[in-house]
Amino acid sequence: MVRETALAPADFIAPLFVKEGVSRPVPIEALPGQMQHTAASLVEECGALAEAGVPAVMLFGIPARKDEAGSPAWDADGIIQQMLRRLRGELADRLVLIPDLCLCEYTSHGHCGVIRDGGVDNDATLETYARIAVSYADAGADLVAPSGMMDGQVGTIRRALDAAGRADVGVLAYAAKYASAFFEPFRHAAESAPRFGDRRAYQLDPANAAEALREVQSDIEEGADIVMVKPALPYLDVLSRVKAAFGMPTAAYQVSGEYAMLKAAAANGWLDETQAMFEVLTAIRRAGADLILTYFARPAAERLRRG
Ligand code: PBG
Ligand code: ZN
Repeated sequence: MVRETALAPADFIAPLFVKEGVSRPVPIEALPGQMQHTAASLVEECGALAEAGVPAVMLFGIPARKDEAGSPAWDADGIIQQMLRRLRGELADRLVLIPDLCLCEYTSHGHCGVIRDGGVDNDATLETYARIAVSYADAGADLVAPSGMMDGQVGTIRRALDAAGRADVGVLAYAAKYASAFFEPFRHAAESAPRFGDRRAYQLDPANAAEALREVQSDIEEGADIVMVKPALPYLDVLSRVKAAFGMPTAAYQVSGEYAMLKAAAANGWLDETQAMFEVLTAIRRAGADLILTYFARPAAERLRRG
């Protein structure tokens, strides 16, 4: 009766992986219950999520081939473009379709941007992101979610979408994304680990909160429709400050390592999975998230539905 924070299936966005050229879904070892989907199994999973009341999916593509520039990302027949067209056809408007927009799954070096002189070139990367955004919009994306943390990415993408006549396509900005150890299982799942160096030149230092607020502010000024903090649980203070400071639709990404920790502990019988899942999801909502990207989206939504 006096509970302040409620969870509902409509709060969740499910991250999903789809791999080009596989004939059956490949389970992801460090993310129990998650798969590298085939086209068919992705459509099936999306149907089940819609049925459970989850309103949106975040799509990550794993292309059959990669190159130095990451060109499969803006191929009109790329894996994500194919899936967007197919989901748009088969699920109509039952799910909001949000492709993650980055280069790391598509480049042979695994970095999120274009490499010049041994490092990521911020501004050269922006032109590429703009091209990918328009390609995703043409294939049926409702929003695009740039995750590379390049300065100016939201503004560049917003202008490119508008110029292409796609003012209707929104931007979910990975606005405060930290250089985190908790992305490790994802990098195996998405086959996107950097081949050299790390991402600290473009992702935030975990020690910094004021800088995160400045990152969020610039994304809002550049036209972000939803801002996101990532990871979630280790950064609840940042999430809380972002929501309080800007009042924007705010998302938090409970990332792969956060999910893996809970699943591993539960598998060992060290904690109760359902109780821990709802406790953490509730904490993320309580801290200020309107939306939670979580690998628990389907089990949590189904459980909430059952009451
Ligand atoms: C890549 C990207 C990452 C995640 C989403 N997009 C990882 C990274 O920066 O290497 C992490 C998601 C997760 O860990 O669940 N741009
Ligand atoms: Zn990336």
